[in-house]
Amino acid sequence: MALQWVMAEVQRTTTGWFPVARATAVGTTPVPVGAGGRAYVLVRLRPGGEVSAFPARCPHRLVPLTAATTVDGTLQCPYHGWRFDGDGRCVDVPSLGPAGSPPPRADLTPPWAVEERHGWVWLAPERTAVALPPRPVSPPEPEPVPAPADLGGPLLDNLHPGLRHAWHPVALSRELRPGGWLMVRLLGRTWVLRRTAGSVAVEPPAGGVRERGGVVELAPAEPAGSADAPLDLPEVGDRRFVGDWLAPERAAVPAGPLLDTFLDAAHVPVVHGVGRLTADPEVPAVDVVEEPGGFTAVQDLDASPHPPPAGPSRVATSVYRVPFRVRLRVDCPRTGAVRTLVHLLQPEDADSTRVYTRVLLSAGPGRPLPGPDALAAAVGDVRGALAEDLELHAQLGLPGLPLRPREELHVPADACGVALRRALADLVAGRG
Ligand code: FES
Ligand SMILES: [Fe+2]
Repeated sequence: MALQWVMAEVQRTTTGWFPVARATAVGTTPVPVGAGGRAYVLVRLRPGGEVSAFPARCPHRLVPLTAATTVDGTLQCPYHGWRFDGDGRCVDVPSLGPAGSPPPRADLTPPWAVEERHGWVWLAPERTAVALPPRPVSPPEPEPVPAPADLGGPLLDNLHPGLRHAWHPVALSRELRPGGWLMVRLLGRTWVLRRTAGSVAVEPPAGGVRERGGVVELAPAEPAGSADAPLDLPEVGDRRFVGDWLAPERAAVPAGPLLDTFLDAAHVPVVHGVGRLTADPEVPAVDVVEEPGGFTAVQDLDASPHPPPAGPSRVATSVYRVPFRVRLRVDCPRTGAVRTLVHLLQPEDADSTRVYTRVLLSAGPGRPLPGPDALAAAVGDVRGALAEDLELHAQLGLPGLPLRPREELHVPADACGVALRRALADLVAGRG
């Protein structure tokens, strides 16, 4: 009883020793624990090695390190592959390339001490006068793991009221047949769309409903000026292109973090295995030009330390428009071939986003149109990558996109992510 009282008292503070997990329960897969109201992960960086303890979130994009893996005696974040040694020091940021050194803020601040004693792992979050954990007289009771939802600042989630003043996709035009109706979800509300003689009507009344480029769009309230910036698609109507929509997918993730991933080059080698981490995960410089309601980013994909002898061969252009619209185009200047991907996101409910994806292809001027097999292969690639992104986010469980830049840690490869946060912060604050 006396020990339980002492433990209860100790757990209201962050000083002292906290029993957090049975030693046998900790292996090379991170285990979430709580000590003094703080969230940590425990892990053995090598099989049978000593236990290390780290704060529960990666400092880069605040993703839970329970999803991390152990690689060569380090802990590796699953999103962009940053690696941390047993002291929490960040020893690798792959997007910086082999010559880059991680910024000091990338280091994790581990607890003051971690000890394996009496069959348990004990943490002391802060310096304590007692050198070693006490011997318990009865089985210790670890405290609950703190809820992971709090990312420490304002978040853009799917129910943010600032999203009411923007246009959102709610259906593909072909899903709403003449004379037909559809029930859709947007920002936590239900709306009914009806196609009547040549137009689309919505109930209950909304700020606007319209049809653009094969998509029905809805603005719950009067759209803000910047929210009307078009996402131009010169590929549509260009006879050198063929294209197709993928069947819309439903994702159990807020739209903000998912769109951030679509604009993010650094996760590609880690999540999609395009190029191995050990080969060339360096992200070439990206040139971002901010525009009303979004930005355009251009990146020479072959501006790596080892460009092909004939010079740059692929240029990526990303066009982003608030709140959740993006066109990703890759040009091959030598042949004129183009591959374009469009993602539009519908924030349905707090934990549900509908994803619309379109693929457009051209073999280049003077060349035959890509055939059905080439289009089917491109669609298959895109569908596979989307499935990997959705699987990643199912693991990460991010509740929204942080809107205050200092909550996260940005490196040069994050230029698009920074511009995305700025545009969304402006939108929901009614600026622009
Ligand atoms: S490396 Fe952890 S979130 Fe980017
Ligand atoms: Fe991806």
